[in-house]
Amino acid sequence: MIENKKLLFPDPSKHPEWIPAHSPDWYAGLNRNVEKYKYPWKSEFDEPTAETIFADLISEQLNDTSKILDVGCGHGEFTHQFVTKTKDIVGIDIEPNFIRTAKGSNKDKAIQFELVDANKKLPFQDNDFDLIYTKKGPWLYEEASRLLKPGGVILGLFHSGTDGGLRDLFQGLYAPLLLDPYDIEKFEHKYNLNESYDLTDFELRVIEEVEYLSRPEDVLQKKCFGQNDKLKQYVWQQCLKGVTKIFNQNATSKGLKVINYHHVVRAKVAK
Ligand SMILES: C[S@@+](CC[C@H](N)C(=O)[O-])C[C@H]1O[C@@H](n2cnc3c(N)ncnc32)[C@H](O)[C@@H]1O
Repeated sequence: MIENKKLLFPDPSKHPEWIPAHSPDWYAGLNRNVEKYKYPWKSEFDEPTAETIFADLISEQLNDTSKILDVGCGHGEFTHQFVTKTKDIVGIDIEPNFIRTAKGSNKDKAIQFELVDANKKLPFQDNDFDLIYTKKGPWLYEEASRLLKPGGVILGLFHSGTDGGLRDLFQGLYAPLLLDPYDIEKFEHKYNLNESYDLTDFELRVIEEVEYLSRPEDVLQKKCFGQNDKLKQYVWQQCLKGVTKIFNQNATSKGLKVINYHHVVRAKVAK
């Protein structure tokens, strides 16, 4: 069992400076003085990426009169690609810096960006949207069934862990995935898909995305996303030499291959 093996690297999450991912402190640190939601590591992807697959699923639902809502739109880059498909798009995010960037770079009348907390009642009328989606942002429950027109669709893309050998190569630095991405029942529970709030026809599928981390430090950047400089300094000192050796032994010409698991969730409104 993994617990009995000698780990190759210290576990950064045991360090007192470690900030649990997706906690309010983690989001606050991540978003401070940042204008865009962007990963700090260098990499390249095999096509289709999870984002491409998700964008195609959204596009399939659209015609030129569709009204769509992007929940947790970040700085709005993804939102923009649907302007050629429909004329009415709203992007919302809770982070003022991101909405400022989204508004600042928006030259298109078809898109509106608003600073809105998706966990509260949303400032839109009943039956306002044909499609609501979130790409790695909050999933709407009660509000989705209120805001969607009859037959309207809600789609979500969620990252559910990276592996493809990464966790075995860098034991300690990366712990084994807590949940098997293919254990659909556990994820249905995690995403509260039984709490349907008038949503129906739930579908959940796994997407495997191939990513190549460009350099040894990108293995550390990925692990330390959203952490402070003190923690990063500790991880670099403790791990960079060992990570470099393993990286160089295993990387292809494109970089170190890893698999990002994503879930796509789809539901319809039952009214
Ligand atoms: C992982 S990022 C994804 C951003 C963007 N959708 C993308 O894929 O590039 C999650 C986004 O959800 C936003 N978010 C988190 N909680 C939110 C809430 N309660 N209301 C609105 N947006 C929220 C964050 O500010 C962040 O921009």
